[in-house]
Amino acid sequence: MKTCIANGTIVTDEAEFVGDILIDGETIAAVGKGLSSLADQVVDATGMFVLPGGVDEHTHYGSFGGLLFDTTAAAAVGGTTTIVDFAPQARGETLADAVEKHARLAKGVCCVDYAFHSMVMDAAADLPAQIAQLPRHGVSAVKIFMAYKGTPYYMEDEKLIEAMMAARNTGVTMMVHAENPDIITVETRLLLAEGRTDPINHYFARPPIAEAEGTRHAIRLAKFADCPLMVMHVTVKEAMEAVRDAFDQGQPVFGETCTHYLTLDTSYLAKPNFEGAKYVCSPPLRPKEHGKALWEAVAKGWLTAVSSDHCAVAGGFAAKKRGMGDFSKIPNGCPGVQERMGMLWAQGVMKGRISRQKFVELTATAPARNVGLEKKGQLTPGFDADIVLYDPSYQGTFTVADSLAGLDYIAYEGFPMAGRPDKVFLRGRLIAEKGRYVAPAGLGVRLRAKPYARAYEAFSPHAEEYTF
Ligand code: URP
Ligand code: ZN
Ligand code: ZN
Repeated sequence: MKTCIANGTIVTDEAEFVGDILIDGETIAAVGKGLSSLADQVVDATGMFVLPGGVDEHTHYGSFGGLLFDTTAAAAVGGTTTIVDFAPQARGETLADAVEKHARLAKGVCCVDYAFHSMVMDAAADLPAQIAQLPRHGVSAVKIFMAYKGTPYYMEDEKLIEAMMAARNTGVTMMVHAENPDIITVETRLLLAEGRTDPINHYFARPPIAEAEGTRHAIRLAKFADCPLMVMHVTVKEAMEAVRDAFDQGQPVFGETCTHYLTLDTSYLAKPNFEGAKYVCSPPLRPKEHGKALWEAVAKGWLTAVSSDHCAVAGGFAAKKRGMGDFSKIPNGCPGVQERMGMLWAQGVMKGRISRQKFVELTATAPARNVGLEKKGQLTPGFDADIVLYDPSYQGTFTVADSLAGLDYIAYEGFPMAGRPDKVFLRGRLIAEKGRYVAPAGLGVRLRAKPYARAYEAFSPHAEEYTF
């Protein structure tokens, strides 16, 4: 079966032009003009922007208390056709077993295609050997947490250095959650001793300097270990500058930021009636000047991707209320997989902060490259036919009533929409239309991410060793 998406404005990370996309089965067969006559059916895309399906390189379905894959239709209606999810590790479990267990939860349930990152929650003595196994399981990256001291996530430097060396030797991308844990521990103790328990104190307990220090620290350790580095969810100007400057000096250091750090700020944590708890995530929302610096960073390529860090904490606002009387007990995490692309379009493209090409790069092309997903993120023959027809004329507002994320709130309530995905195709199949999920659940397939991905591109000759 051949389908032609005709007469849309095709937007890539480099160019845009009015034309057609010919889909043969699940794959893009051709991009050009006058392709309709070759197709069995034609979808008229006149007036639409034709974009690659989004790739969200950072989601938490099931980790950090997040809801599971039965809520992934939210990704689809928002234009994201691939998620890369963090597989939580149980105590005593290997990283590879954790990934395979997590994959079983997604199979037949996930509504978009999915790959996995590993995340260390039990740094066993054989951690380096476990990291070395990850490429065999289609996992190209492992995240370690310098923060969350006192929980299974936290990792001390000695282990981190060993992990970096193992990652470097096997082409696994080392991802870090870079916040200085001791600043956070001390600040939290001081604030609680003063009786300061409200959600806004989550920000004061994790000040910008904690992230700046953590980021510089991680970059230095990576230099010592000769390991490429990906700094996740960069939120402060100084951390962003540390990533940018290290890269400029020839160290393979990259960073991403997230929708909420670009579009929300610390004032949301101060919302009355404990509403601020809905916005508790780590690192925390920052004062506006950091958001401004992050927009400049994504526009100029100093940060390579915008992810959602989607974490729809099960139980919604009621679960967040577990932290009433002690902000440090508020479960961390912000939902956002559904709104990531629409928010970035409305707040980025429409406000002139980024071009449409940059939008495509940040939401699809670059994350696919970061993760090593070879057939995702581009409108190019041979790539998967993951395609969004974006209707720029639609006007509305983001609201929880339209959310498929499974919570009783969203992070972007009331924000204006400047268009929306009119149709979303996953490997050639229509899965979402006008904000509704229109396919059977669970059509997503597991993807194998290739090691020696972007962080290694200028670094290693081994990239060709892995084919799946
Ligand atoms: O608050 C957040 N970001 N929850 C998910 C965990 C993480 O550190 O990414
Ligand atoms: Zn993190
Ligand atoms: Zn995260």
